[in-house]
Amino acid sequence: MTTILVIHGPNLNLLGKREQGLYGKLDLRAINKKIAEKAKTLKAKTEFYQSDHEGGIVEIIGGAGKKFDAIVMNPAAYTHTSVAIRDAISAVDIPVIEVHLTNIYAREEFRQKSLISPVAKGSICGFGIDSYLLGVEAAVAAAKKG
Ligand code: DQA
Repeated sequence: MTTILVIHGPNLNLLGKREQGLYGKLDLRAINKKIAEKAKTLKAKTEFYQSDHEGGIVEIIGGAGKKFDAIVMNPAAYTHTSVAIRDAISAVDIPVIEVHLTNIYAREEFRQKSLISPVAKGSICGFGIDSYLLGVEAAVAAAKKG
C-alpha cells in the first residue's frame, strides 16, 4: 500500500479561523479527514504533520524516505523563504508534491516566487482544498512510477 506523508507548514493549524476569505472555512482536522478519505479511494494511507518550525519540517523530510512513498506538502510561508526546506527536498529520495490552497502567482509579489517548485516533483495551487486532493492523486501516481 502506498503511504503518503502530508506536511502542513506554519499557520496552517489556524485554518478555519485564519483569513477565511482566502483559505476557506474548513479547519485542519476537517481538511485532513478529506485528504485521508481521498487517499483511501486510491488504496493509499496518509500520515499528517503540521509545524510552525522550519527545523522540525527539515527533520521530518529527512527521515521520510524510510517510511513513506511520497510527500504532499504545503510549505506555507516557508515556500518563499526556506533554502533549508528546499535542500531537504532535494536530498530525499521520494517524490514531493507542493500544494497551495491559493494561487500564489495571483497574489502579492513576494508570494510569487517559490523556492520549493524547482525541486518538487510538481506543484498544484489555487484550488482550495482540492489542491491537496489533486496532490494526493499526483503523489500516488508518482510513487508508483518510482
Ligand atoms: C499558502 C500560500 C502562502 O503564501 C502562505 O504563506 C500560506 C498559505 C497557501 O496554501 O495558499 O500560509 O501556502
